[in-house]
Amino acid sequence: MDRKLGVAVCGAGWCATQHIAAFQRNPHTDVRWIVVRDADRARAALAKSGLSVPEARITTHYDEVLGASDVDIIAIATPNHLHADQAVAAAQARKHFVLEKPTGLDEAELVRIRDAVRQSGVRTIVSFVLRFNPFLKFARWLRADGWLGDIRFARTQYLSNVTDWYSGWDWVRTRESGRSHLLAAGCHALDALRWCSGLEPIAVSALHARFTDGYEWPTSIVANMTLEGSALGHVTSSTDFMLPYTFLVELMGSRATLRQDLIQWLDTPVDIEKLVAANPFADVQLAAATDSAGRPAIRIICTMPESADVVHHPFQPLDDELVTCVLEDRETSTSVFDAQKTMEVCLAADRSAELGGKPVALPLIPD
Ligand SMILES: NC(=O)c1ccc[n+]([C@@H]2O[C@H](COP(=O)([O-])OP(=O)(O)OC[C@H]3O[C@@H](n4cnc5c(N)ncnc54)[C@H](OP(=O)(O)O)[C@@H]3O)[C@@H](O)[C@H]2O)c1
Repeated sequence: MDRKLGVAVCGAGWCATQHIAAFQRNPHTDVRWIVVRDADRARAALAKSGLSVPEARITTHYDEVLGASDVDIIAIATPNHLHADQAVAAAQARKHFVLEKPTGLDEAELVRIRDAVRQSGVRTIVSFVLRFNPFLKFARWLRADGWLGDIRFARTQYLSNVTDWYSGWDWVRTRESGRSHLLAAGCHALDALRWCSGLEPIAVSALHARFTDGYEWPTSIVANMTLEGSALGHVTSSTDFMLPYTFLVELMGSRATLRQDLIQWLDTPVDIEKLVAANPFADVQLAAATDSAGRPAIRIICTMPESADVVHHPFQPLDDELVTCVLEDRETSTSVFDAQKTMEVCLAADRSAELGGKPVALPLIPD
């Protein structure tokens, strides 16, 4: 490719600024357009986040970007209720795209996105950025390489007290745009459960409750799942709890168990020397340790998912992967097709909670 790929970013908010910075750093892309509702507000937001994008044109007309020949990739980082229409329009205009989570807010939106992308053949990546966090990458590898044995139980938690400190508070708290705790936030936890365990949920039963003021939807949800292979899964997703941001991953297998940053076992110890030799990640260290009761364990030392701040999230490898896949004409790890499965579990859990916990079977959308 002898020219750089042109990028347009929809939105200039908290998350959009991270995509702008990531595409500015990628050697194969130029940020050429920013699409917003109000140009002056966007300029102020960019300046506040320390970004200088002198080469980019700011427009309030998405159509202008869809028709622009200097745009190859669109990053969609607008409020949730705009995602489906913007993604479908991008695909129809033959633009590759990054789509912020949640992709669609109901089955109809998910089907529209899927069909438009299938028809156009564009490359897509959905912003389940935590898949690129070193700890989650290691957890997935640990399971896939067989160190834990067959997974019997997987549990993830997304606990983040989001209130009016959040720039998107006005829209996220509404049913129209935020829609539900899982769709607006906890989808990261359901995605991590699928991604790390490698098992698809086949049925979900959930309960929800409401504590935090200001939201039009329940602010805590717990979901129990039957996973492929008769394994069990559990997700807790809440904005209500009085503790710092917490993102938990546990994988309990027939050989050993991962409990956040500790690996433990019962009968057959995990050989730390062999594990250190096999570990493919330079940014993950392993150390012999003990748990609080003095029992042997292996501690994982790396950047953990421990902040709600988007500055802490790995947008760079996410956006880099899309660029590589566009250049090499291949599917990304986190396409709209794969992300749809996570979104279906969110919708099924919300439906179950509305029904008082009645199990809902998956998938919701036949292929
Ligand atoms: N992957 C992640 O980890 C992660 C983290 C945070 C957020 N997100 C996602 O990113 C998306 C954007 O969230 P954010 O935190 O960046 O929100 P935000 O700070 O509120 O930014 C939203 C942006 O969209 C623009 N916008 C365009 N049309 C709008 C409309 N009709 N109503 C309100 N704003 C509109 C806003 O511009 P004006 O209001 O100035 O017009 C603003 O630039 C959401 O889908 C969210 O779920 C993902």
